[in-house]
Amino acid sequence: MYRDPMPQRFPLLAQGFPERKGLCSAQSTVYYPGKMQIEQKMGSGLPLPSARTIAIGGVKLDGIVLLAPMSGITDVIMRRLALRLGAAGVVSEMIASPALARSGEEARLRLEGEGVSPHIVQIAGRDPACMAQAARIAADSGAAVIDINMGCPAKRVARQLCGSALMREPDLAERIVAAVVASVDLPVTVKMRLGYDEGSLDAPFLARRCEAAGAQLVAVHGRTRAQFYEGRADWAAVGPVKGQVRIPLVVNGDIASTEDAKRALFLSGADGVMIGRAALGRPWLLGEVAGELKEEGHTSPSLVERCDIAIEHYRGLLSLYGVALGVRHSRKHLQAYAAHALAGQARPMACGLSASLVRSEEPAEVERLLRAIFGLAADLGDAHLAEAA
Ligand SMILES: Cc1cc2nc3c(=O)[nH]c(=O)nc-3n(C[C@H](O)[C@H](O)[C@H](O)COP(=O)(O)O)c2cc1C
Repeated sequence: MYRDPMPQRFPLLAQGFPERKGLCSAQSTVYYPGKMQIEQKMGSGLPLPSARTIAIGGVKLDGIVLLAPMSGITDVIMRRLALRLGAAGVVSEMIASPALARSGEEARLRLEGEGVSPHIVQIAGRDPACMAQAARIAADSGAAVIDINMGCPAKRVARQLCGSALMREPDLAERIVAAVVASVDLPVTVKMRLGYDEGSLDAPFLARRCEAAGAQLVAVHGRTRAQFYEGRADWAAVGPVKGQVRIPLVVNGDIASTEDAKRALFLSGADGVMIGRAALGRPWLLGEVAGELKEEGHTSPSLVERCDIAIEHYRGLLSLYGVALGVRHSRKHLQAYAAHALAGQARPMACGLSASLVRSEEPAEVERLLRAIFGLAADLGDAHLAEAA
């Protein structure tokens, strides 16, 4: 396994990340292994965040809860829905910079941002000139913010030495940020992980270099690249980043509820949270978390409204991708909508409807099945209430 000569390349690590005077939030924590396990088990009753907004340079977000970029999931349809339902910001799927420069069909679809404001476009790559060109193309097509991917652990991405592989090349990473910043008149942000592996938790060091190169926000997923998606995200381990940068910090990984968001904010000292997988099949989750963090008494959509949202999402996907591709593309969303609606109900009828939903190729049939599933969920909910009474 790769091991960095930490003391030479990462002097801050060797010194234990001394916090910059006056920069560090009172809630920042210094990481040591095992701390997260203790602190993430803390009870509720954590303070609500005082921050109400995040400013990415001149772009002000209306809140602190963002939708994480997810390839194959956060296309323009999902992002539009999440924004309408209360997310403060949404990030496009990663777009490979060479593909964007070639103007490939997939890149074009991923760049789509109609009805999305602010339109944050994530680009990936390792060639500063190509990344700068991709950023210009994104800017010309209406992007308001450019995000640089330094966190993707996928082998096919890391093999091309971009995504999370850039965490092992801080000089190159910094040059990429500087090139992108110089190429567009837009704020630039960076998304990264804690580090490449447990032996190189470089996020604080890299975030500081990204800030020096002009980045205006950094988002950190509380896992290393070596972890992929194993174990739990370590929110406390994101804390040292806060001590090293003045720009806003967003914490990400395994946040699936308001309690998680509060705990992640408290342990990391971050200014905002980014939610990914937990929003699949419930794009209203971000609005719910945002409302509860603000104590605004956000009302969750009813089952009927959720069904309408699922159908709107499905129709949107068919129109974006065309029916043949859209039907296949929508399956993971449909499955997730059904799973959340039925909340783990293993009754034969629920299982049968869910199985038919993800097999059906016929849009009208899919919509009928969705209505049946949400109808069944309502009946099961009523029965549950009657049992409890
Ligand atoms: C299917 C999938 C696709 C993803 N695609 C991207 C991507 O394109 N760019 C990126 O920076 N992160 C990507 N991620 C990582 C997420 O943005 C996020 O960091 C990760 O899922 C942890 O957050 P979560 O636990 O809230 O899902 C992806 C994750 C998943 C599950």
